[in-house]
Amino acid sequence: MSFKICSIGCGGMAQAGHGPAFRKYAQMNPDIKLAACCDIDAARAEKFRSEFGFARSYTEWEEMIRQEKPDAVSLIVPVTLTEKLTIQMLRRKIPVILEKPPGMNREQTLRMADEAQRTETPNQVAFNRRYMPIIRRFAQLRQGRTANLWQYDFFRVNRRDQDFSTTCIHGIDTVRFLAGCSYRQVKFTYHPIADAEDWVADIILDCEFRDGAAGRIIFSPMTGIVAERCTMHGTNQLISCTLPYHGSTKPADGPGRILLAQNGRILLEETTPAEEEDFVSNGFYGENAAFFDCIRAGGRPDGDILSGLQSVEIADCIRHRKALYEAVL
Ligand SMILES: NC(=O)c1ccc[n+]([C@@H]2O[C@H](COP(=O)([O-])OP(=O)(O)OC[C@H]3O[C@@H](n4cnc5c(N)ncnc54)[C@H](O)[C@@H]3O)[C@@H](O)[C@H]2O)c1
Repeated sequence: MSFKICSIGCGGMAQAGHGPAFRKYAQMNPDIKLAACCDIDAARAEKFRSEFGFARSYTEWEEMIRQEKPDAVSLIVPVTLTEKLTIQMLRRKIPVILEKPPGMNREQTLRMADEAQRTETPNQVAFNRRYMPIIRRFAQLRQGRTANLWQYDFFRVNRRDQDFSTTCIHGIDTVRFLAGCSYRQVKFTYHPIADAEDWVADIILDCEFRDGAAGRIIFSPMTGIVAERCTMHGTNQLISCTLPYHGSTKPADGPGRILLAQNGRILLEETTPAEEEDFVSNGFYGENAAFFDCIRAGGRPDGDILSGLQSVEIADCIRHRKALYEAVL
């Protein structure tokens, strides 16, 4: 029995992260058929097909679904289309993995989650950082340690997006994932950036978690380096991690690094192996493999749409330049 995968959207993220992950997954699992990919841009769809080993390419997703009858679909489309296409897949009872954000706001996320529940269709949101090997290692080291304070630095170069919140959601979600509990409250401050458009800002989140820990997340879209760094401070101990963000043309931190320190001494220090491919160290392989493995085994993926709800709500506050988020009880 073969397992047929179709993919919709063959743009930047599909080419850099998901395409190489699909190819590797198919190489490692002989029953996997990369049946077809689709993009409204025919040349882009065809390039993606030939580069990553899909059998056919389409420009119309409905026709692709009708012809191919996939066992699972991956959605890597513009954020404005994610809700609509997710609901279309769920209505057809096709298991779906969707790029973040899982909705632009609470209402969209709940509509998708309700449809998934009504149709009993498995789904997963592709928050790739949750599947980065270094973040998994962080989660493992964090077990049994009490966090007092979380810090996350999220730096980009020349990002002038009108809506940077759909990128900020990564930092919000990663801290929540590592904290292992939800936010109780977030206070936001927005600082203008000199010589940038008036919608571009450094954004600071001062957070309180339900377990009593505090947190500070800094988003700086126009600084000197592309980097993400996360630290958990406990009492006289710390876990600190540099994410393996490989910018091809921009200065970046380079390989990922994690360290555990206690009472002023470094107890453990690890670096992302040099041979690890970028799409593996960046979590794209892990998220896709976890989803497809789970569907093939007849299970329910861990990180479903609903698991992203609070991250969506907090990102939506940034979009609307809110000063305060308080969790709904
Ligand atoms: N995980 C991450 O780190 C990360 C980073 C960037 C973007 N993303 C997410 O990936 C998704 C795609 O972003 P991107 O940067 O690749 O955008 P992109 O614009 O480069 O690619 C989107 C592609 O979808 C195609 N498309 C549009 N409408 C379509 C339709 N109706 N049917 C089929 N194809 C259609 C476009 O032609 C384009 O090729 C977004 O959800 C974004 O939030 C994730």
